[in-house]
Amino acid sequence: MLRPVRRMPEPIAQPVLEVPGWEPATWQARPAVQQPSYPDQAALAAALAEVASLPSLVTSLEILTLKRQIAECAEGKRFLLQGGDCAESFAECDSHTISNRLKVLLQMSVVLIHGLKLPVVRVGRFAGQYAKPRSTDLETRDGVTLPSYRGDIVNDAEFTVAARTPDPRRLVRAHSLSALTINFVRALMDGGFADLHHPEYWDLGWVEHSPLAREYRRMVESIGEAVRFMETLAGEPLGSFSRVDFYTSHEALLLHYEQALTRRVPRQWGSFNLSTHLPWIGMRTADLAGAHVEYCRGIRNPIGIKIGTGTKPEQLLRLAEALDPQREPGRLTLIHRMGARGIGEALPPLLETVKRAGHPVLWCCDPMHGNTETLDNGVKTRRFENIRTELDHAFDIHAAAGTRLGGVHLELTGENVTECLGGARDLTPEDLQRAYKSSVDPRLNYEQSLELAMLIVRKRG
Ligand code: PEP
Ligand code: CO
Repeated sequence: MLRPVRRMPEPIAQPVLEVPGWEPATWQARPAVQQPSYPDQAALAAALAEVASLPSLVTSLEILTLKRQIAECAEGKRFLLQGGDCAESFAECDSHTISNRLKVLLQMSVVLIHGLKLPVVRVGRFAGQYAKPRSTDLETRDGVTLPSYRGDIVNDAEFTVAARTPDPRRLVRAHSLSALTINFVRALMDGGFADLHHPEYWDLGWVEHSPLAREYRRMVESIGEAVRFMETLAGEPLGSFSRVDFYTSHEALLLHYEQALTRRVPRQWGSFNLSTHLPWIGMRTADLAGAHVEYCRGIRNPIGIKIGTGTKPEQLLRLAEALDPQREPGRLTLIHRMGARGIGEALPPLLETVKRAGHPVLWCCDPMHGNTETLDNGVKTRRFENIRTELDHAFDIHAAAGTRLGGVHLELTGENVTECLGGARDLTPEDLQRAYKSSVDPRLNYEQSLELAMLIVRKRG
């Protein structure tokens, strides 16, 4: 959480003093997929020693507070809004990008708070989202084969031997840039930047282009009125309303890096990953006998798990057992990404199985990754309509199964990019050429993100 914690988290499970047979390094005895192969092991050891000696990025108290809040999302007392880029890049660690991304997430959260009548837990998948899982270790172009680009924490995307050789110094740089990002977010929050609940400051020109313009205008007016009413009652600007909590997440892929930031803290049992509040596991790294599951089972952070149409109920069950043997509220967030077409068939058996086993998980919909498509001209995109449809279905499927959709994860940016089709301005394939900036997955732009928040409210409010 990027604000001082105001109260101590209550214990939400029986204290467990150690995780049997686990140490921060026990993953090293297991097969570890998605790890780069560093040519210089001494340089790797030196870089890791440096990261291990540097300050942590988050605190155990923040982590436990988030865990409690995730438990409340699962119980329907809060809603989780998680978002960020598919991958951060070192070059985009700048004030403009960070503040715009924060702004859109905060504005969306205000729409959700007002419309859902629930507190929103905000998690940015940034300040550490520098590693990317890849389908192959090597890439061949014109007969030349080089290591795949694995994210800026490992190597550079340029297709040269020098750029693609994994460089351990990048681990130290990733730590520094994550710290700079968190520091800037904390400063923005403390400096009143979070005071964004006045829709008159928002950039809402797009609303007029939507068939739902009247409804959206009414929504925005009523948010403004609600805030003004509360301020009149309080007799002053709503100080606490302008101060918001913010947490971070990233895919915990590079286990050496994660281990270097895994620490014990005074007056707490066990170990915490102090590089982020909410580390994720992907399906490519979810092998029960593999290193990532071994690493994650021992840390006390809440864990996010990506699940897709290929996830089998028994497989998910075994994963949940391995990572959450105590059935601890707030421990697991299952992030389903199945596509508008796949969700109807794939999700219900998973909901049923997890529910029957009694894991108190938070279900979170990622309506982005199952809806990625490649146009005839080779451009990777996602249609706003499919994103919206998957989210709609997700709410309905959970309601029918007696489970609860308690959050969303979106790939978005505060910039005015043109990467996803559709939305109020109805972006066409031709528009995509105008401002397509992502080198990984296509993201919702500022307007599309805010529109999606309003559509969630329309569905649930
Ligand atoms: C992601 O989570 O942004 C992503 C691209 O995931 P995956 O590669 O695991 O599908
Ligand atoms: Co992605």
